[in-house]
Amino acid sequence: PYTYYLKYRKQRPDLINPYELYWTVISYLIHNVYHSDAKTLEVMIDRAINGLKRCKERVGTEQYNEIMEIFASGNPEFNRLIQLMVRKADDVDFFDKLLRDQINTQLKNDRMEKEKFQTTIRTVRDQINDLLKIPRPAGIPPMKESLIEAANYSLTGDGKRIRPILTWVLGVEVYGLQSAAIEPLLRSLEFMHTASLIFDDLPSQDNAPTRRGRPTLHQVHNSATAELTGLYLIQKAIQEQASLQAFNPVTVLALMQYSAEKAEDMCMGQAMDLHSKGKAMTLEQLNMMCFYKTGLAFEASLVMPAILAGVQSAEIEALKKFAYHAGIAFQIKDDLLDLEGDHHLLGKNTRMDVENNNSTFVSVLGPEAARIEMWDHYCHAVEALNAVPRKISFLNHLLDYIINRNR
Ligand code: IPE
Ligand code: IPE
Ligand code: MG
Ligand code: MG
Ligand code: MG
Repeated sequence: PYTYYLKYRKQRPDLINPYELYWTVISYLIHNVYHSDAKTLEVMIDRAINGLKRCKERVGTEQYNEIMEIFASGNPEFNRLIQLMVRKADDVDFFDKLLRDQINTQLKNDRMEKEKFQTTIRTVRDQINDLLKIPRPAGIPPMKESLIEAANYSLTGDGKRIRPILTWVLGVEVYGLQSAAIEPLLRSLEFMHTASLIFDDLPSQDNAPTRRGRPTLHQVHNSATAELTGLYLIQKAIQEQASLQAFNPVTVLALMQYSAEKAEDMCMGQAMDLHSKGKAMTLEQLNMMCFYKTGLAFEASLVMPAILAGVQSAEIEALKKFAYHAGIAFQIKDDLLDLEGDHHLLGKNTRMDVENNNSTFVSVLGPEAARIEMWDHYCHAVEALNAVPRKISFLNHLLDYIINRNR
């Protein structure tokens, strides 16, 4: 009302002066509602005077006097008294004002962090896209050329690259590793993930016609080519890991062992997924399936750079806990998008889970209860983050992104 009055008071003589209305309400409250109770009077006047005093401090005496000239000139005697009180008032802070300051600062920081998050996602994604294409050395047999071409077809589709982006942020920004030194790791994560999608889309699994905005690999070629390309990509991923030359070989072996164990468990997650078709599942089984098929890849994206950086095991455990909840939330969102999403944005067919009679959080619990479970995992992930010794605000924003994404 103050801003509106300042802007339109000349065009609109019917406007009520909000400052006068404010004092009228204060007076009414003190005398008619609280029957001139002395304590109430003191609190209310303090609060009102404190508001004016803060305004004066914020805008400076000169501008404050100009504002008062506009709002408070109707009753000069009353205004003189008020301004005397403003000059004399001790610094009384009111909780609501302190809270407002606090919230303002926090919102501003959040906004800045969020912008930074979005810039990082964009720039690192471009950087990763430039690393993915597998080169075709001259003079290799034509059959191998076509395998590389098939792998590149799947790799260069419009993927979000979330897993290698996470690895880059943890590795480079959080743990201070050289970006060039971890390039093989970034490639290996996206190779493994892409291979898992090629297998997941096969007629023997989800029988999906599109992926990353294109026909699936088995549609373009056939299942055998898709299977071989998936295997080829996994071997390429291992080669990449073995070429992490900037690190101690013992550390790289530990990373490769961890990676192989997780890939093994992801296979188990996919097997659980396929075996559960059409079956009722408990919440515990749903969580387990989603952690194995999806959560583990998020865990690996965080834990692998931590292994390379020689991070303490307590911190790795905290990251795992975060990844568990963030990964399941990611899969529940994927299940929701399968039901409610836009296939153009997603780059893959929707309603596949219904078509395949898949047991997912959404098909078992219904979309509303699934959404509640997703938020529950969101909250647990935030809690897990608070237990990570370093503040990694990127991960907080990643969670918001996971929940709110439309692709
Ligand atoms: C899809 O992963 C498979 C799931 C685990 C749900 P993404 O949604 O990250 O797929 P891309 O890499 O962006 O294509
Ligand atoms: C796939 O889950 C999990 C993988 C690790 C491949 P989905 O089958 O739901 O993934 P989309 O929906 O096909 O991408
Ligand atoms: Mg699947
Ligand atoms: Mg699928
Ligand atoms: Mg899905």
